[in-house]
Amino acid sequence: MFKVNENYLKLPGSYLFSTIGKKVSAYQAANPDKQIIRLGIGDVTQPLAPAIIEAMHKAVDEMGHAETFHGYAPDLGYEFLRSAMAKNDYQDKGCDIQADEIFISDGAKCDSGNIQEIFAADSKIAVCDPVYPVYVDTNVMAGRTGTYDAKTETWSNVIYMPCTKETNFAPVLPEETPDIIYLCFPNNPTGSTITKAQLQEWVDYANRVGAVIIYDSAYEAYISESDVPHTIYECEGARTCAIELRSFSKNAGFTGVRLGATVIPKDLKSGDVMLHSLWARRHGTKYNGAPYIVQRAGEAVYSEAGKAQLKDQVAYYMNNAKTIKQGLKDAGYNVSGGVNAPYIWLEVPKGMTSWDFFDYLLEKANVVGTPGSGFGPSGEGYFRLTAFGTYENTVAAIKRIKEM
Ligand code: MLT
Repeated sequence: MFKVNENYLKLPGSYLFSTIGKKVSAYQAANPDKQIIRLGIGDVTQPLAPAIIEAMHKAVDEMGHAETFHGYAPDLGYEFLRSAMAKNDYQDKGCDIQADEIFISDGAKCDSGNIQEIFAADSKIAVCDPVYPVYVDTNVMAGRTGTYDAKTETWSNVIYMPCTKETNFAPVLPEETPDIIYLCFPNNPTGSTITKAQLQEWVDYANRVGAVIIYDSAYEAYISESDVPHTIYECEGARTCAIELRSFSKNAGFTGVRLGATVIPKDLKSGDVMLHSLWARRHGTKYNGAPYIVQRAGEAVYSEAGKAQLKDQVAYYMNNAKTIKQGLKDAGYNVSGGVNAPYIWLEVPKGMTSWDFFDYLLEKANVVGTPGSGFGPSGEGYFRLTAFGTYENTVAAIKRIKEM
């Protein structure tokens, strides 16, 4: 009889957002008259900006003519998009990243899950707690995390870096030395950030101990404070220790379009092996490139019109964040996040678990959020609301929560 990858059997339950989806569907089926407002998964609601739509239409037309038709995309991405990213996301900010160090993909979720493949099976990972579940679950699938303790909801071979109220939801350098450190700032789920000086400490630490940082900057567009870094390559020495994941989902509304990128500087090496070469080999073997139409849409993100339109879109969501944060404060909740990130992190009422509050909110206010414990044990007692809803739904949800 064939055998399955038993690491999959170690995974507890289903993926967080699938579990939530099932619970909400069951509630809706039992209560068809209820108008549920979804502020759970961080999925956008605003339509694609006009500059992006225009670029996509043009690309679609090109695909309809033999002279301008495009087949397989270059597996590492079209030069036009890699150059636009290198210039706008890095070089214009004074960071030394070249176009050929950027690998275009169909999204940061896939990249954040796949990147672990290029590291040794016995690598030790360190994650923030709470954390975006993909980082941990994909290492479980690869057999890297040891055994699961259902009581503590932790894996025996993972270094957890608690991000609590006491540290402003920032991780502190771990006592045990990891090989791979996952960091995401602005943070999902807590909506917190760290300053450039704090990030520099992580870069210095990684270079000192020979670890690699996988830096997820999916929420970079939401930064409003000047001491918060937009990319890890603002830090000195990051070229020798950091991989950066970039997404078009949150800054440009591409959750349903799918586009992302991974940056691997050529100076990032294990001995004399460049991680850049390994990822290029993986991409070439397993991936046929993001679609031409989508990459042209990505290029439009960097046009003057695209930049202006997306600035407005980000402001729209951040106005929601402000509305949620103020509304919850008025209702007596302790809240954080929502200043440099589209997520609001709130403490659930005493005596309730995160999942109790999920059920309570769904039943009493018909509002969906995400239980903090779904992101890790230190998330227990917390709850995440996203600012990616429509303004009208955001206002209505807060009104209902206040009346609860
Ligand atoms: C989230 O809600 O945490 C994110 O939307 C998930 C994702 O980006 O994959």
